[in-house]
Formats: sequence, structure tokens, C-alpha cells
Amino acid sequence: MSTETSLPAIPLVDLQTQSRAIKEDVLARIGDVIDGARYILGSEVAEFEKQFASYCNVDHCVGMANGTEALHMALKALEIGAGDEVITAGNSFAATAFAIAYSGAEAVFVDIDPFDFNIDASLIEQAITPRTKAIMPVHLYGQPARMNEIREIARRHNLRIIEDSAQGHGGEINGERCGSFGDIGCFSFYPGKNLGAFGDGGAVTTNDPELAEKLNLLRNYGQKQKNKHDTLGFNCRLDTVQACVLLSKMRFIEEWTENRRQVADWYREELKDVNIALPQAHEDCRHVYHLFVVRTPQRDAMIAELAKQNIFCGVHYPHPLNTAGPFVTAPTFPQGLPVCTQLAGEICSLPMYPEMTREHVVRVAEAVGNFVAQQESASGVV
Ligand SMILES: Cc1ncc(COP(=O)(O)O)c(C=O)c1O
Repeated sequence: MSTETSLPAIPLVDLQTQSRAIKEDVLARIGDVIDGARYILGSEVAEFEKQFASYCNVDHCVGMANGTEALHMALKALEIGAGDEVITAGNSFAATAFAIAYSGAEAVFVDIDPFDFNIDASLIEQAITPRTKAIMPVHLYGQPARMNEIREIARRHNLRIIEDSAQGHGGEINGERCGSFGDIGCFSFYPGKNLGAFGDGGAVTTNDPELAEKLNLLRNYGQKQKNKHDTLGFNCRLDTVQACVLLSKMRFIEEWTENRRQVADWYREELKDVNIALPQAHEDCRHVYHLFVVRTPQRDAMIAELAKQNIFCGVHYPHPLNTAGPFVTAPTFPQGLPVCTQLAGEICSLPMYPEMTREHVVRVAEAVGNFVAQQESASGVV
């Protein structure tokens, strides 16, 4: 794409700067793995699981190959499958609904609350049928879903809760951490996530020792002992080399999360006089700003304009899940997911990463402000 500026690029996510900071430590850890030839489920995996369980304030963490398999294995461990329904949000990455489909269950989509872009808890009960087995809230963009309300609904209807916390590392409600609210929490360590590997990675968290044991079997061909297969398991173990990367990054996760929150504060200050909808955070939440998502009806034009200035945005996500091929006949509450549908055309993720400086934020905010001002003068709004 041709740009109209000689200023350096501000990407949506900057993985290179962060990777440089931990490279030596990662290489040393990987060197140990190579020397010890402990490539599958090496001690680094167990050490990472211990640290990540403690980070999420839960008793158990089981490393998985990726976030999608974490969700899939969570459904398997809870014996949810054909004939069952799982309620989830209409705005998420496709993997949330795909995992439900992989299990054989049917995804039922509930609209989102425009305040926080998460599942609208007040609509969930309409979607419950005798076949409903679980609710799968997504802590989208790094803000926890309304878990107290969701837990109360699950309790009343005897439903399981599987958290899709792929974007929620370190998020909290009143000090309770994402991954500790439900029966099982599911995390992705895809490179761009708040805690990201140098490839694919994922994990599940739980306080239930029996579920932890089942998840350990499920991820490793159903084996407790080598070649003794107790159950129809899968091959979806967290890779030892990725565990090395995650261990190196665990030392910085809190610092990086606070940096993200600082970047969000800077955006709010710099954009306070600009006529654009900023993301809102619940007072009882620690929002970890995996993404900083603003809203404007001129979203596509704004993204194109910012790209000319070497500033790169994203859209998470441009199509509600009920419009994806495998889910076009899925039940939706209310019919057609009107909020998801409208917001899908307006949401724009501005650059967000822990290494962003105030100068970066000022440059993005000025570009957004100039775009909005041009639109207003073109349409006669002063
Ligand atoms: C909300 C959500 N759920 C699930 C996933 C799937 O995770 P992964 O890509 O690690 O399979 C992702 C990320 O990609 C995600 O953002």
C-alpha cells in the first residue's frame, strides 16, 4: 500500500520489539531443551503450567496445542457433544463457535451488550432450552464478561461454564481472575495475544482435580502410562519449545499488562474531544486491553486513511458468527443478532501493544481526530 508519510509504521501489534527483549533468555531455555532432548511434555511445560495456574489463581493448568483445542478439550472433558447446545456470544473469533461444532454440540448465539462488546447476560435465559449444557462467555478484547450474572444463570439452570479467555489473560472482576470464574478457563497463546508464544500454544485452567486429570489424558492420546490408552484422546499438547517462550514472558506479563492499560489511558486523554465512541470499562473490572476498539460508522474509510499515514488498524470481527458458513442456521437471540450486526460495520481496533509510547498514541489520535474533523466538515457538521 502506498503511504503519504515518511514517518515509521505504527503496526496494530508490534511483536518484534517484545521478542527482542526476551530473545537471549528464550534461546538459553531452548538450548537446555535441545541438550536434554526433552521435546514432548518436557519439564518446561510442567513449570509453565504451575506458574500460569498461580497467575490465574486456580489449582490446575494443563497446556494445550492452541486456544481452539483448549476450548474443544474443555467441551470433551465436560462430556458435551451431539444433541447438546452451548450458548456463546455472536461477536468472537470463529474458533469459539468452531470448537463447539467440533465437539458435536450446537452453537447458540446471543447478542452482545454495546457497552462492553461481551455477551449480553440479560438475554441468555431466553436462549436456554432443555438441551442447553453450557455457557461459553468470551472475555472479548480483554474485558471480562459479566461473570457474576452469568454464574447466577448457570447455577439456576444447572449449566456448566467454559470461559473463552483467549483475550483475557490477567483480566479481573473485583480481583477474581479470568480463567477462574467457570468450570474451565481456556487460553490462547497465539503470538499476538497478551501472553503469546513464538507459534501456537494454549492452556486450560480449572479448580477441579478430576477435570484436570481428564484434560491431561485428553491432550495426550488418553494415556496415563505410555501406550495405555484409557480414553479416546487427542494429540494437542503444549509444545516444550513454546513453553520456554511462555516462561520467559511470564516474568513480564504484569508489566506488559499495566503498559497496555497506560496506553488505553493515553488514548482516552488524547481522544477525549474527538467525536468517536471509545471503549468503556466496567468499574469492577480490570480490563487488560488485548485490543482498544473504537466505533465509527465511517470505519472502512478511517482505516484506509490511517494506512496512508503508516498507521495500521484491524477489525475484530467484521462478520458476526451467525453469518459464517457452518452457523447460518444456528439459533440467534434475539433473531439476527441486531447489535452484533450493527457493530460489525463500525468497530475498529487501533494499534495496541505494551511497547507503544505516548508519541505513538499522539500520532494515532491526531490521525483519527483529523479524519473525524474532515468527515464532519464534509457533511456540514461543525
Ligand atoms: C476469542 C478467541 N477464541 C479462540 C481463539 C483461538 O485460539 P488459537 O488461535 O490459539 O487456536 C482466539 C484466537 O485466535 C480468540 O481470539
